[in-house]
Amino acid sequence: MNKKSSPLVLVSHALPDGWLQLLEERCELIIGPPEGNQLVEKLTAKLPFAEGLFTLLTIKVDEDLLDKAPNLKVVSNMAVGYDNIDIDACTRRSLPVGNTPGVLTEGTADLTIAIMLAAARRLIEAHQDAREGRWKTWSPTGWLGKDLSGAKLGIVGMGKIGTAVAKRAKGFGMEILFSDPNSNQDLIDQLDAKPMELDELLEEADFVTLHVPLTTETRHMIDIKALQLMKPNALLINTSRGPVIDQLALTQALKEGKIGGAALDVTDPEPLPADNELYSLKNCLIVPHIGSATWNTRRKMAERACQNLLAGLEGIKLPYCVNPEIYEA
Ligand code: GLV
Repeated sequence: MNKKSSPLVLVSHALPDGWLQLLEERCELIIGPPEGNQLVEKLTAKLPFAEGLFTLLTIKVDEDLLDKAPNLKVVSNMAVGYDNIDIDACTRRSLPVGNTPGVLTEGTADLTIAIMLAAARRLIEAHQDAREGRWKTWSPTGWLGKDLSGAKLGIVGMGKIGTAVAKRAKGFGMEILFSDPNSNQDLIDQLDAKPMELDELLEEADFVTLHVPLTTETRHMIDIKALQLMKPNALLINTSRGPVIDQLALTQALKEGKIGGAALDVTDPEPLPADNELYSLKNCLIVPHIGSATWNTRRKMAERACQNLLAGLEGIKLPYCVNPEIYEA
Protein backbone atom coordinates (compact mmCIF):
# COMPACT_ATOMS: atom_id res chain seq x y z
CA MET A 1 0.00 0.00 0.00
CA ASN A 2 1.63 3.25 -0.96
CA LYS A 3 0.81 6.57 0.55
CA LYS A 4 -0.46 8.05 -2.77
CA SER A 5 -3.39 5.72 -2.94
CA SER A 6 -3.81 5.74 0.82
CA PRO A 7 -7.09 4.26 1.95
CA LEU A 8 -9.23 6.40 4.22
CA VAL A 9 -9.46 5.06 7.75
CA LEU A 10 -11.66 6.48 10.49
CA VAL A 11 -10.25 6.13 13.99
CA SER A 12 -12.97 6.74 16.57
CA HIS A 13 -10.62 8.12 19.25
CA ALA A 14 -7.26 9.83 19.44
CA LEU A 15 -4.57 7.66 21.04
CA PRO A 16 -1.18 8.51 22.51
CA ASP A 17 1.70 9.29 20.16
CA GLY A 18 3.02 6.30 18.32
CA TRP A 19 0.15 3.93 19.06
CA LEU A 20 -1.28 4.31 15.56
CA GLN A 21 2.09 4.41 13.84
CA LEU A 22 1.39 1.34 11.69
CA LEU A 23 -1.64 3.08 10.24
CA GLU A 24 -0.09 6.52 9.95
CA GLU A 25 2.53 5.10 7.59
CA ARG A 26 0.01 3.60 5.19
CA CYS A 27 -3.36 5.29 5.47
CA GLU A 28 -5.11 8.61 5.44
CA LEU A 29 -6.49 8.91 8.95
CA ILE A 30 -9.34 10.94 10.33
CA ILE A 31 -9.18 10.73 14.09
CA GLY A 32 -11.85 11.54 16.68
CA PRO A 33 -11.41 13.07 20.15
CA PRO A 34 -9.67 11.14 22.97
CA GLU A 35 -12.94 10.29 24.71
CA GLY A 36 -16.61 9.86 24.00
CA ASN A 37 -19.30 7.29 23.39
CA GLN A 38 -20.18 8.22 19.82
CA LEU A 39 -18.51 8.80 16.48
CA VAL A 40 -18.19 12.54 16.08
CA GLU A 41 -19.60 14.40 13.08
CA LYS A 42 -16.18 14.84 11.46
CA LEU A 43 -16.02 11.02 11.20
CA THR A 44 -19.65 10.18 10.45
CA ALA A 45 -19.53 12.62 7.52
CA LYS A 46 -16.73 10.52 6.00
CA LEU A 47 -18.36 7.10 6.49
CA PRO A 48 -19.38 6.84 2.81
CA PHE A 49 -15.71 7.04 1.75
CA ALA A 50 -14.02 5.06 4.52
CA GLU A 51 -12.33 1.72 3.85
CA GLY A 52 -11.35 1.05 7.45
CA LEU A 53 -12.98 1.72 10.80
CA PHE A 54 -10.97 1.55 14.04
CA THR A 55 -13.22 1.53 17.10
CA LEU A 56 -13.20 1.31 20.87
CA LEU A 57 -15.82 -0.64 22.82
CA THR A 58 -17.78 2.55 23.48
CA ILE A 59 -18.75 2.87 19.81
CA LYS A 60 -21.80 1.08 18.59
CA VAL A 61 -21.37 -0.40 15.12
CA ASP A 62 -24.86 -1.30 13.91
CA GLU A 63 -26.81 -1.70 10.64
CA ASP A 64 -27.42 2.00 10.50
CA LEU A 65 -23.73 2.87 10.63
CA LEU A 66 -22.80 0.07 8.23
CA ASP A 67 -25.40 1.24 5.69
CA LYS A 68 -23.67 4.60 5.66
CA ALA A 69 -20.28 3.01 4.98
CA PRO A 70 -20.61 0.88 1.81
CA ASN A 71 -16.88 0.95 1.09
CA LEU A 72 -15.72 -0.49 4.40
CA LYS A 73 -13.31 -3.41 4.13
CA VAL A 74 -12.70 -3.95 7.83
CA VAL A 75 -13.86 -3.01 11.33
CA SER A 76 -11.12 -3.28 13.93
CA ASN A 77 -12.13 -3.08 17.59
CA MET A 78 -9.40 -2.24 20.10
CA ALA A 79 -10.82 -4.65 22.69
CA VAL A 80 -11.18 -8.36 23.18
CA GLY A 81 -14.95 -8.01 23.67
CA TYR A 82 -17.02 -7.05 20.64
CA ASP A 83 -20.57 -6.84 21.91
CA ASN A 84 -20.61 -3.22 20.71
CA ILE A 85 -20.57 -4.52 17.13
CA ASP A 86 -23.43 -6.17 15.28
CA ILE A 87 -21.35 -9.12 14.08
CA ASP A 88 -24.20 -10.69 12.09
CA ALA A 89 -24.69 -7.46 10.18
CA CYS A 90 -20.95 -7.37 9.38
CA THR A 91 -20.92 -11.03 8.36
CA ARG A 92 -23.88 -10.48 6.02
CA ARG A 93 -21.74 -7.84 4.31
CA SER A 94 -18.66 -10.14 4.30
CA LEU A 95 -16.99 -7.53 6.43
CA PRO A 96 -14.26 -8.88 8.72
CA VAL A 97 -14.24 -7.73 12.35
CA GLY A 98 -11.03 -7.82 14.37
CA ASN A 99 -10.46 -7.90 18.13
CA THR A 100 -7.41 -8.06 20.40
CA PRO A 101 -7.34 -11.30 22.41
CA GLY A 102 -4.29 -12.44 24.36
CA VAL A 103 -2.55 -9.16 25.05
CA LEU A 104 -4.92 -8.10 27.82
CA THR A 105 -5.20 -11.45 29.57
CA GLU A 106 -2.61 -10.80 32.27
CA GLY A 107 -3.64 -7.19 32.92
CA THR A 108 -7.29 -8.12 33.31
CA ALA A 109 -6.44 -11.07 35.54
CA ASP A 110 -4.33 -8.76 37.73
CA LEU A 111 -7.22 -6.32 38.08
CA THR A 112 -9.60 -9.15 38.93
CA ILE A 113 -7.35 -10.21 41.79
CA ALA A 114 -6.85 -6.57 42.82
CA ILE A 115 -10.56 -5.84 43.21
CA MET A 116 -11.23 -9.25 44.74
CA LEU A 117 -8.62 -8.52 47.42
CA ALA A 118 -9.80 -4.95 47.84
CA ALA A 119 -13.37 -6.12 48.44
CA ALA A 120 -12.32 -9.06 50.63
CA ARG A 121 -10.19 -6.79 52.85
CA ARG A 122 -12.45 -3.71 52.63
CA LEU A 123 -9.59 -1.56 51.39
CA ILE A 124 -11.62 1.38 50.09
CA GLU A 125 -13.70 1.65 53.26
CA ALA A 126 -10.59 1.35 55.44
CA HIS A 127 -8.74 3.99 53.41
CA GLN A 128 -11.67 6.40 53.62
CA ASP A 129 -12.01 5.84 57.35
CA ALA A 130 -8.29 6.46 57.87
CA ARG A 131 -8.32 9.60 55.72
CA GLU A 132 -11.45 11.00 57.32
CA GLY A 133 -10.39 10.65 60.95
CA ARG A 134 -12.28 7.49 61.90
CA TRP A 135 -9.06 5.55 62.68
CA LYS A 136 -9.08 5.94 66.46
CA THR A 137 -7.18 2.86 67.58
CA TRP A 138 -6.05 -0.63 66.61
CA SER A 139 -9.18 -2.60 67.28
CA PRO A 140 -9.28 -6.41 67.24
CA THR A 141 -12.53 -6.21 65.31
CA GLY A 142 -11.77 -3.19 63.13
CA TRP A 143 -12.30 -3.58 59.35
CA LEU A 144 -12.42 -7.36 59.42
CA GLY A 145 -12.63 -9.04 56.05
CA LYS A 146 -12.35 -12.40 54.37
CA ASP A 147 -9.35 -14.65 53.74
CA LEU A 148 -8.48 -15.72 50.23
CA SER A 149 -6.35 -18.56 51.49
CA GLY A 150 -8.43 -21.69 51.84
CA ALA A 151 -11.48 -20.07 50.19
CA LYS A 152 -13.23 -21.51 47.15
CA LEU A 153 -13.03 -19.38 44.03
CA GLY A 154 -15.76 -20.10 41.47
CA ILE A 155 -14.67 -19.05 37.98
CA VAL A 156 -17.48 -18.67 35.46
CA GLY A 157 -15.87 -18.98 32.03
CA MET A 158 -12.47 -20.65 31.96
CA GLY A 159 -11.08 -19.01 28.83
CA LYS A 160 -7.77 -17.15 28.68
CA ILE A 161 -8.63 -14.61 31.38
CA GLY A 162 -10.43 -17.10 33.64
CA THR A 163 -7.40 -19.38 33.46
CA ALA A 164 -4.97 -16.53 34.24
CA VAL A 165 -7.11 -15.65 37.28
CA ALA A 166 -7.07 -19.30 38.39
CA LYS A 167 -3.26 -19.40 38.21
CA ARG A 168 -2.97 -16.31 40.37
CA ALA A 169 -5.60 -17.54 42.80
CA LYS A 170 -3.70 -20.80 43.29
CA GLY A 171 -0.79 -18.67 44.51
CA PHE A 172 -3.09 -17.25 47.17
CA GLY A 173 -3.99 -20.75 48.33
CA MET A 174 -7.50 -20.72 46.89
CA GLU A 175 -9.37 -23.81 45.76
CA ILE A 176 -10.55 -23.49 42.16
CA LEU A 177 -14.04 -24.41 40.97
CA PHE A 178 -15.17 -23.51 37.49
CA SER A 179 -18.06 -23.74 35.11
CA ASP A 180 -17.43 -23.74 31.38
CA PRO A 181 -19.08 -25.88 28.73
CA ASN A 182 -15.72 -26.24 26.96
CA SER A 183 -13.66 -27.33 29.93
CA ASN A 184 -10.23 -28.63 29.11
CA GLN A 185 -8.75 -31.66 30.87
CA ASP A 186 -5.14 -30.39 30.83
CA LEU A 187 -6.19 -27.27 32.64
CA ILE A 188 -8.21 -29.21 35.15
CA ASP A 189 -5.15 -31.33 35.94
CA GLN A 190 -2.71 -28.44 35.92
CA LEU A 191 -4.76 -26.24 38.24
CA ASP A 192 -6.38 -29.03 40.20
CA ALA A 193 -9.61 -27.24 39.28
CA LYS A 194 -13.05 -28.74 39.76
CA PRO A 195 -15.51 -28.43 36.84
CA MET A 196 -19.18 -28.09 37.76
CA GLU A 197 -22.53 -26.73 36.65
CA LEU A 198 -23.10 -23.04 37.27
CA ASP A 199 -25.77 -23.58 39.95
CA GLU A 200 -23.53 -25.90 41.92
CA LEU A 201 -20.62 -23.44 41.64
CA LEU A 202 -22.79 -20.59 42.90
CA GLU A 203 -23.81 -22.65 45.92
CA GLU A 204 -20.26 -23.72 46.79
CA ALA A 205 -18.03 -20.74 46.05
CA ASP A 206 -16.89 -18.13 48.57
CA PHE A 207 -15.89 -15.85 45.69
CA VAL A 208 -17.50 -15.93 42.24
CA THR A 209 -15.72 -14.25 39.33
CA LEU A 210 -17.19 -13.78 35.85
CA HIS A 211 -15.13 -14.23 32.67
CA VAL A 212 -17.66 -14.82 29.90
CA PRO A 213 -18.30 -12.69 26.81
CA LEU A 214 -21.60 -10.83 26.65
CA THR A 215 -23.96 -12.75 24.35
CA THR A 216 -27.70 -13.38 24.29
CA GLU A 217 -27.02 -16.50 26.42
CA THR A 218 -24.92 -14.73 29.05
CA ARG A 219 -27.00 -11.53 29.39
CA HIS A 220 -28.36 -11.54 32.98
CA MET A 221 -26.75 -14.93 33.59
CA ILE A 222 -26.42 -13.74 37.20
CA ASP A 223 -30.04 -12.93 37.95
CA ILE A 224 -32.09 -13.00 41.12
CA LYS A 225 -32.21 -16.80 41.09
CA ALA A 226 -28.46 -17.10 40.69
CA LEU A 227 -27.84 -14.57 43.47
CA GLN A 228 -30.14 -16.50 45.78
CA LEU A 229 -28.02 -19.60 45.27
CA MET A 230 -24.87 -17.83 46.46
CA LYS A 231 -23.66 -18.03 50.04
CA PRO A 232 -24.80 -15.05 52.15
CA ASN A 233 -21.20 -13.95 52.69
CA ALA A 234 -19.92 -14.68 49.16
CA LEU A 235 -18.36 -11.94 47.03
CA LEU A 236 -19.20 -11.48 43.35
CA ILE A 237 -16.49 -10.09 41.05
CA ASN A 238 -17.12 -8.92 37.50
CA THR A 239 -14.44 -7.84 35.04
CA SER A 240 -16.29 -9.13 31.95
CA ARG A 241 -19.30 -7.07 30.84
CA GLY A 242 -21.87 -5.32 33.04
CA PRO A 243 -25.04 -6.84 31.56
CA VAL A 244 -23.88 -10.37 32.46
CA ILE A 245 -25.34 -9.40 35.86
CA ASP A 246 -28.93 -8.25 36.35
CA GLN A 247 -27.83 -5.13 38.16
CA LEU A 248 -31.17 -4.31 39.79
CA ALA A 249 -31.25 -7.81 41.24
CA LEU A 250 -27.67 -7.36 42.46
CA THR A 251 -28.49 -4.01 44.09
CA GLN A 252 -31.37 -5.63 45.94
CA ALA A 253 -29.26 -8.65 46.97
CA LEU A 254 -26.50 -6.37 48.31
CA LYS A 255 -28.98 -4.20 50.22
CA GLU A 256 -30.67 -7.19 51.78
CA GLY A 257 -27.39 -8.94 52.60
CA LYS A 258 -28.28 -11.91 50.38
CA ILE A 259 -24.63 -11.93 49.33
CA GLY A 260 -21.62 -10.46 51.10
CA GLY A 261 -20.48 -7.95 48.51
CA ALA A 262 -19.52 -7.20 44.93
CA ALA A 263 -16.50 -5.82 43.13
CA LEU A 264 -17.34 -4.50 39.68
CA ASP A 265 -15.05 -3.27 36.94
CA VAL A 266 -17.98 -3.23 34.52
CA THR A 267 -21.53 -2.00 34.95
CA ASP A 268 -24.77 -1.55 33.05
CA PRO A 269 -24.78 1.10 31.70
CA GLU A 270 -21.28 2.51 31.37
CA PRO A 271 -20.44 4.97 32.65
CA LEU A 272 -22.59 4.22 35.70
CA PRO A 273 -24.27 7.53 36.63
CA ALA A 274 -22.91 9.05 39.85
CA ASP A 275 -26.34 8.89 41.51
CA ASN A 276 -26.65 5.12 41.05
CA GLU A 277 -27.60 3.41 44.31
CA LEU A 278 -24.75 0.90 44.00
CA TYR A 279 -22.25 3.64 44.87
CA SER A 280 -23.95 4.18 48.21
CA LEU A 281 -23.52 0.57 49.30
CA LYS A 282 -20.48 -0.12 51.45
CA ASN A 283 -20.34 -3.70 50.25
CA CYS A 284 -19.99 -2.71 46.61
CA LEU A 285 -16.70 -1.62 45.04
CA ILE A 286 -16.87 -0.07 41.59
CA VAL A 287 -14.03 0.90 39.26
CA PRO A 288 -14.51 2.42 35.78
CA HIS A 289 -13.80 -0.49 33.38
CA ILE A 290 -10.03 -0.52 33.84
CA GLY A 291 -9.30 -4.25 33.46
CA SER A 292 -6.80 -3.69 30.65
CA ALA A 293 -5.68 -0.23 31.81
CA THR A 294 -1.90 -0.48 31.88
CA TRP A 295 0.33 1.41 29.44
CA ASN A 296 1.87 -1.77 28.18
CA THR A 297 -1.41 -3.61 27.64
CA ARG A 298 -3.25 -0.75 25.99
CA ARG A 299 -0.35 -0.10 23.65
CA LYS A 300 -0.29 -3.74 22.60
CA MET A 301 -4.06 -3.68 22.08
CA ALA A 302 -3.65 -0.69 19.77
CA GLU A 303 -0.89 -2.44 17.86
CA ARG A 304 -2.96 -5.59 17.42
CA ALA A 305 -5.94 -3.52 16.28
CA CYS A 306 -3.71 -1.75 13.72
CA GLN A 307 -2.47 -5.10 12.42
CA ASN A 308 -6.04 -6.33 11.99
CA LEU A 309 -7.01 -3.14 10.23
CA LEU A 310 -4.12 -3.27 7.77
CA ALA A 311 -4.80 -6.92 6.95
CA GLY A 312 -8.43 -6.04 6.23
CA LEU A 313 -7.43 -3.20 3.92
CA GLU A 314 -5.13 -5.54 2.03
CA GLY A 315 -7.86 -8.16 1.73
CA ILE A 316 -5.93 -10.77 3.71
CA LYS A 317 -7.29 -12.71 6.66
CA LEU A 318 -7.20 -10.69 9.88
CA PRO A 319 -4.74 -12.12 12.41
CA TYR A 320 -7.52 -11.91 15.05
CA CYS A 321 -10.89 -12.20 13.38
CA VAL A 322 -14.17 -12.73 15.23
CA ASN A 323 -16.19 -13.75 12.13
CA PRO A 324 -13.72 -15.96 10.19
CA GLU A 325 -16.65 -17.68 8.48
CA ILE A 326 -16.66 -14.83 5.95
CA TYR A 327 -13.47 -16.31 4.52
CA GLU A 328 -15.14 -19.65 3.86
CA ALA A 329 -17.80 -18.24 1.54
C1 GLV B 1 -12.22 -4.70 27.52
O1 GLV B 1 -13.18 -4.80 28.22
C2 GLV B 1 -12.06 -5.43 26.32
O2 GLV B 1 -13.00 -6.10 25.88
O3 GLV B 1 -10.97 -5.35 25.74
